[in-house]
Amino acid sequence: SLSPLIDQKRRAAEAAVAEIEPGMLVGLGTGSTAAFAIAALGRRVAGGLAVRAVATSLATEAAAVAAGIAMLDFADVAAVDLVIDGADEVDPALRAIKGAGGALLREKIVAESAGRMLCIIDDSKRVSQLGRGPLPVEVLPFARRFVTDRLAALGCEPVLRVRAGAPVLSDQGNLLIDCRFGPIDAPAALADQLAALPGVMGHGLFLREIDFLFCGGELRQERDR
Ligand code: A5P
Repeated sequence: SLSPLIDQKRRAAEAAVAEIEPGMLVGLGTGSTAAFAIAALGRRVAGGLAVRAVATSLATEAAAVAAGIAMLDFADVAAVDLVIDGADEVDPALRAIKGAGGALLREKIVAESAGRMLCIIDDSKRVSQLGRGPLPVEVLPFARRFVTDRLAALGCEPVLRVRAGAPVLSDQGNLLIDCRFGPIDAPAALADQLAALPGVMGHGLFLREIDFLFCGGELRQERDR
């Protein structure tokens, strides 16, 4: 039997996948919640739904192909109709931190190209203020020490992501630096500062991308426009 939070992830994913219509080009996110969406979309495709999709990571690409979903190379795509993706933290204004899975750069590109972003989470991801956990930053290996220093100067504790004694590399071969800021009072200003640092290839603040938040089988919230 599934834990309540895992069940919320699955039901959020299935509710979001129910929004996909025939002929759409769909962006597929990365992580354990997005994996439920890939499985649900695979079932709809097996049932005759004609859609095509693009992946936000190599892991998602492999899972989607295995699920029988027709995949396009995002390099050939200007825009997707909608993207379905998870998050690590979402605040009451639908601002999010993503990147615990390391796919933040491709996720942000696909989200920016998307007509709508459907974010799928369980209740544990909802926060009153961003910064409960670390903010992932993707860094060009050449700039590791320089960027680490500048990140610390912005007021965080930067930690190089390591697994089994070796730096974790993104799908692009970049480093991931997890930045503990504590409560982030001015996320837009921080996003601007990060984007202005040469060597920072991407960061996990998604402040305007999410349009719809699904949690536990229902649409919980919609962005005011
Ligand atoms: C991947 O880089 C992340 O942005 C994921 O979207 C995020 O970590 C959510 O993953 P889970 O659904 O596994 O929590």
